[in-house]
Amino acid sequence: MSSLSNLGEKDASFVWHPFTQAAVEGSPIVIKKAEGVFLYDENDRQYIDANSSWWVNIHGHGNAFIADAIYEQCKTLDHIIFAGFTHPKAIELSERLLKWMPTQMQKVFFSDDGSTAVEVALKMAFQFWDNQQNSRKRILALEGAYHGDTFGAMSVGQRGYFNKPFEHFFFDVDFLEFPTTDNQHILLEQAEKLFQTHEFSAIILEPLVQGSAGMRMYGVDFLEQITNLAKKYQVLVILDEIMTGWGRTGEMFAFNHGAIHSDIICLSKGLTGGVLPLGLTVATQEIFDAFLSEDKSKALLHGHSFTGNALACAAACANLTLFENPEVFENIARIQRQHMQFKASLTYKRVKEVRMMGTILAIELTDSQEDYFSSLRDEAYHFFLENGILLRPLGNVIFINPPYVIDNENLTYIYENIRNFISNLK
Ligand SMILES: Cc1ncc(COP(=O)(O)O)c(C=O)c1O
Repeated sequence: MSSLSNLGEKDASFVWHPFTQAAVEGSPIVIKKAEGVFLYDENDRQYIDANSSWWVNIHGHGNAFIADAIYEQCKTLDHIIFAGFTHPKAIELSERLLKWMPTQMQKVFFSDDGSTAVEVALKMAFQFWDNQQNSRKRILALEGAYHGDTFGAMSVGQRGYFNKPFEHFFFDVDFLEFPTTDNQHILLEQAEKLFQTHEFSAIILEPLVQGSAGMRMYGVDFLEQITNLAKKYQVLVILDEIMTGWGRTGEMFAFNHGAIHSDIICLSKGLTGGVLPLGLTVATQEIFDAFLSEDKSKALLHGHSFTGNALACAAACANLTLFENPEVFENIARIQRQHMQFKASLTYKRVKEVRMMGTILAIELTDSQEDYFSSLRDEAYHFFLENGILLRPLGNVIFINPPYVIDNENLTYIYENIRNFISNLK
């Protein structure tokens, strides 16, 4: 057994971490326990998980109800092949989830995480047309988009630092500028021209908030108009609710904010309360029906070894049960009120823009390099860690999206530290 004291060194010897430049970044912090909003390192230092551990954890760490559901499931049925076989928890999850989805959503496809949920959505959209001998092959996305790190998901994402070495392998995608109140009229005109070609299979959108682009937010009116325009031209609408789902934007899903049309919805992250990996791609009956044929090759020939994992399904069912308790949305509303008050106090010179939606609060700072590799990022990251807060900025954007169980005292502590950090910037 490793002793805790040399775990950091062992990690450096054996482990390759994501989104990490090992040549310059120090050893990772070894976390031995997580409870509620706190992470505890090997020296018992506590950190408030202000970004919900990559935006997944919504009910706090070590939630006993989810843990019990997983344990009970594990004793009964752990994992089985999901082709030709099914199991009660996958069925329960699908039936219960569809009640939260727009009425046209009728079928749930299982995968492993956000990227695979998007990958499946893209394949569904392309094959939907291909199965009907229709040559719609183009796809529309928004500049700044992030939909994951697999090749399809990268193709429909913003090209840049994240994916440069792979760019020549990507399929062609048309991108619309990021919508603002000034340009949305033009963007809708551009989209309509594109849709009129009848070459577009789908449009993919992070509804209302672009996460990785720096928690950039756009209006519900644009989302309503572009999705309904797509519907008019039979262009499939893929909503990537991987980050925005599960109460993050103040409603259960971002599509609940308005009359937003969708044909395919991607879910992950908070789906299991952020405890186990699971991705879902939810589709309409019409899409499902386009795969039905005597010809077996018209099926969606896609799957993963762990598709429909019963433990993840049990966690997701437990998550749905937790959402039946009004306390979850009371907490979300309370966090919003706290954010709102704090937002009003952010009148510093270096604050370029403050954005807020639901439990997400993002503060964009001015810097000589205003992108993902802004030096402010490292400065802020280490400042917050030293003060017992795990807050991972996106370049020059500091943001918090905590688990909903965070109390006002810990929120205030985060706010105070953000104020200290910004007010000490030159
Ligand atoms: C909007 C969105 N889509 C897709 C993904 C990819 O999810 P995963 O990291 O689980 O593959 C993310 C991850 O941050 C995301 O924010």
